[in-house]
Formats: sequence, C-alpha cells, structure tokens
Amino acid sequence: KRPAGAPDKALARKVTKVGIIGAGLMASQLAMLFARSLGVPVVMTDLDEDRVAKGVGYVHGEVDGLLAKGRIGQDKANFLKGLVTGSTSKDGFADADFVIEAVFEEMAVKQQVFAEVEAVVSSECVLATNTSSLSITQMASELEHPERVVGFHFFNPVAVMPLLEIIPGEKTDDATLATAFATGKGLKKTTILVKDSPSFITNRLLGRFMGEFSRIVDEGTPVQVADRAVAGLAPMPPFVLMGLVGPAIALHNSQTLVRAFGDRFYASPSLEAMVAARKPGYYTVVDGVQVPDPEVLAMQ
Ligand code: 3HC
Repeated sequence: KRPAGAPDKALARKVTKVGIIGAGLMASQLAMLFARSLGVPVVMTDLDEDRVAKGVGYVHGEVDGLLAKGRIGQDKANFLKGLVTGSTSKDGFADADFVIEAVFEEMAVKQQVFAEVEAVVSSECVLATNTSSLSITQMASELEHPERVVGFHFFNPVAVMPLLEIIPGEKTDDATLATAFATGKGLKKTTILVKDSPSFITNRLLGRFMGEFSRIVDEGTPVQVADRAVAGLAPMPPFVLMGLVGPAIALHNSQTLVRAFGDRFYASPSLEAMVAARKPGYYTVVDGVQVPDPEVLAMQ
C-alpha cells in the first residue's frame, strides 16, 4: 500500500535532460517551465516540422518576453533558447532521464507514443504523462517497464498555476515517484499525491463547476450572464477558462466523469456540438473584444 505522503527523497534520480512528446501549447509551456526552472536541455518532438518549429518558436517568444520585461538578461535569454530544441525524431530522448507526454487526450495515442519512447530511452527514464483524466495504470499496462510511468498533471497557464498533481499507477515504483516529487519541487510547484481515479482531484472538482455552468447555459441563460455570476468568486469567468483550456479537453473531461460517476456530472450537448464544429470556445474576438460567438449560440 502506498504511503499517504511523498516517498523517501533519497530514492529520487537526478534529471539532467528532459524530453517532451508533443509541441502544442501545453507541451511548449512545459518546455519553457522545465528549461527555466531546471536549467537542463529540453527536447520537444512532434509529428511534423511545422509543429516542432511552432513549439520552439513559442519558447523563444516567452524568453523574449522575459527579456523585454527585464526579468532576465541577454546571456540568460541566449542560454534558455539554447536549451530548448525540437525534432520530429524521438532519438534525442536516448539520454533523457525524464520524458513527459502532452499529446492528444486519447488512451490509444498515449499508449502508442509511450511504446515508441520506451524503445529509445534507458530502463530508468521516467515516463510522465500530463493526462487530465485518463488512467495511469492502463496507460502503463502494455509497457515493458510500467514501474517508471507516473501522472504529472499541470494546469493552464503552466507558468503561473502553482499546482501539480502527481499520480502513481498500480505499478509505479518508489524511485519514479520520488523523482517525480523532486522534479516537481525543482519546478517550484505545489505537489500533491493523487489517487489514480478518473480526472484525479482538481479536474473532478472543476468538472462539477464547469458542468453546472454548461447546464445553466443549455437551460437558456446567456453565456456572458453565466460568466458574470462568478465575478469576484473565481479568478476567471468559467467560459473564458474553457477557452483557455480548450473545449475539446473540457468535453473529454466531462465525458470521462459521466462515464465514471454518472448523473453527478454533465456532458453538455452544446459543448459537444461546438467541439464537432472545431470552435475555440463560447466566445469569439471581434475588434479585439471578446464576445459570445453567435454561431455557437445558434447551436444551443
Ligand atoms: N503564460 C504565461 N504567463 C501568463 C499567462 C500565460 N498564458 N497568463 C498570465 N500569465 C502571467 C502574466 O504574465 C502575469 O505575470 P507577471 O505578474 O509576472 O507579469 C501573471 O500571470 C498574472 O497575469 P495577469 O495580471 O494578466 O492576469 P490575472 O491576475 O487575471 O491572472 C490567471 C491570470 C493567473 C490566468 C488567472 O486568471 C487564473 O488563475 N485563472 C484561472 C486559471 C485556471 O483555473 N486554470 C486551471 C484550468 S484546468 C487545467 O488546466 C487542467 C487541464 O487538465 C484541463
């Protein structure tokens, strides 16, 4: 049985190189965080050159932003940019000690990329997943070394949100868990040990909150009115937050929760229609101002 707290720190392995699977927005935010906080080389991979270039470009843009604000000097900016590289091949993971995936939220896709990475890395390399809702045990089940898989769940925007959920699967060993906690500490996050259950803790709580807002809108309340209802109660209006997280992720989370816990949760049909239509959220931007998207409202 697992201890209630973090495992023995002495078991933690040193992380000297990080691999990131994916170069989308979450993956790019992770690349920036790992490079800036740990000061180690970070290699990002994705399926095509364009995505990789976009991911590395995001990091360069963030570094330039810090430089412009005077938070770092030119030498540090050059150093950080030099740490982050990208490739369409996973060969650069060969000497990594910690690889984290931030690819499409689909079990089969995540299992597939972990299997590909396992063929490249050493048997001790930690395989971390930033899944927001999927089972860590199941994700590790087909691997040769399931004991090195761990959930490592961040929140948007990664640079500012302090929380990091650390989720061991059934077979995760103490060295992996200790390395995950030590790495989380190095990233200056508030780490919590979380059970491997659908959507973990934070997204399960958020699922109730967001589900009720979707229900309120589906029952006929305008989006902006529902959003204003939390003025002063939450840091961000719920549907603005949904745009930040991405409606597909929000929908996936609500569907996972409905499957696991039934009627306590709500998967909104209008959210489903929005995702099917590839809409970025309930809002659209007109002349620099965020307004409810009329096409989305028409779907309701
Ligand atoms: N990237 C990097 N830095 C960012 C950023 C971003 N996307 N957005 C904001 N920041 C930084 C700003 O640069 C600023 O830094 P500074 O003080 O050093 O200059 C700081 O954050 C504060 O920004 P602002 O003053 O512009 O804005 P606010 O005070 O309104 O705070 C917020 C912005 C922190 C994003 C706040 O609105 C918030 O907490 N929102 C809720 C976010 C949330 O709930 N996230 C969880 C989503 S669930 C999830 O991600 C899980 C997944 O599995 C679905």
